[in-house]
Amino acid sequence: MRKVIIRNGTVVTATDTFKADILIENEKVTAISFSISEKADKEIDASGCYVFPGGIDAHTHLDLPFMGTSSSDDFESGTRAALFGGTTTIIDFAFQSHGKSLKEGLSEWHQKARGKALCDYAFHLAVVDFNDRTKTEIRELIEKEGVTSFKTFMAYKGALMIDDRQMIGLMNEVKKWGGLVTVHAENGDLADSLIQMNREQGNKAPKYHALSRPEIVEAEATGRAIDIAFAGKHPLYVVHMTCEGALNRVKEATKRDQRVLVETCVQYLLLDDSLYDRPGFEGAKWVMSPPLRKPKDQQALWKGIEQGLVHVVATDHCPFCMNQKEMGMDDFSKIPNGAPGIENRMELMYSEGVEKGRLSLNKFVEINSSNPAKIFGLYPRKGTIAVGSDADLFILDPRIEHTFTKETQNMNCDYSSYEGWKVKGKIKSVLLRGVIAIENGKSQLEKGFGQYLKRNKFKIF
Ligand code: URP
Ligand code: ZN
Ligand code: ZN
Repeated sequence: MRKVIIRNGTVVTATDTFKADILIENEKVTAISFSISEKADKEIDASGCYVFPGGIDAHTHLDLPFMGTSSSDDFESGTRAALFGGTTTIIDFAFQSHGKSLKEGLSEWHQKARGKALCDYAFHLAVVDFNDRTKTEIRELIEKEGVTSFKTFMAYKGALMIDDRQMIGLMNEVKKWGGLVTVHAENGDLADSLIQMNREQGNKAPKYHALSRPEIVEAEATGRAIDIAFAGKHPLYVVHMTCEGALNRVKEATKRDQRVLVETCVQYLLLDDSLYDRPGFEGAKWVMSPPLRKPKDQQALWKGIEQGLVHVVATDHCPFCMNQKEMGMDDFSKIPNGAPGIENRMELMYSEGVEKGRLSLNKFVEINSSNPAKIFGLYPRKGTIAVGSDADLFILDPRIEHTFTKETQNMNCDYSSYEGWKVKGKIKSVLLRGVIAIENGKSQLEKGFGQYLKRNKFKIF
């Protein structure tokens, strides 16, 4: 039996912070104690460091065909980069194609990931056409395939968007079998009309992407999705929330005792829309939907985390290289939407959150690891450090400062969203199911090590 011991670290979970040694046997944590006397095959000294549960990124897009091209990280490069950044599990989106079944979409994504992924992974299913046929697939997906969450798009008209009637039908069916509906909340018609207006006026630059998707586009759709969920007494998870206006709709809902689950992404906490004013085409790097917002929105989201209104921080990692972004050189609406971030999230949230006093250590674990595991049916196997849990951990040295650059990143993208950004705290080692994944700045795993995770049904969170 292979044994690993991590000694002298400060162990942090969503509830506790304490000095302890951790014993790992095979894939699991088998003891957490102030001092473990036995010897192991591998001993790691974590003196002066924190030992955190592996990050769970609940929103990624690897190898996604989108807007006439494909996201530039596949399951090998994307999951390797995730591990470098302390993320040991991702939940990616398998997409249904128009005219095809949900199961066909799922099997396509299994093929993309199998034999390639280095970290563990699960899938949400993005439903682009809910009809009588797809309805019959929901139960099996939840009960047999372990796919217990379904994404709907209220935007991307003509491509991914579904109407309210379809969303209501999906929510009814998903609740019946114990799943959770998640929503990309932007009013697709409103965004579309603003895009058309800007194109007609000859506005071509990347900044018109953001100007075509103002705060109200997101706030309206968020409120509508929340109302629809309330009417049917459905749970609801809003993905990638960016702004005060949308968060206010969540606050409103609490007045009628409705609880809405909210995800934001690290870029919406740290970057703002002034980046779209960069010279030339540079703003295209941050063209994503919804777009980056204003500093007042960042403040609202940080407050939302503190107040327990924002539950999860993910990345919506969907990278495109600059030559792909250039598809929209003469038309902002053709710039593929998305940006890299899977590798940066944990160090950014530690540095900007914990080190800057915006997050406690425990809150850091809660929003980046425990909450996504709980909401998406992976807890307590994932998302905490406890006896019996998978030994998915990372060791962070809070004394080391470093700088993000495109040259040193592992994501397959020719720019960094955070170029030149200095962070305090460096991830030294990462373990996945008790096996060293990252050590001395090197990836130690073979591709295909990552396992598919069947998830449990949604439980009241
Ligand atoms: O711009 C984004 N967010 N790209 C990925 C697709 C999505 O909407 O999540
Ligand atoms: Zn989305
Ligand atoms: Zn996304």
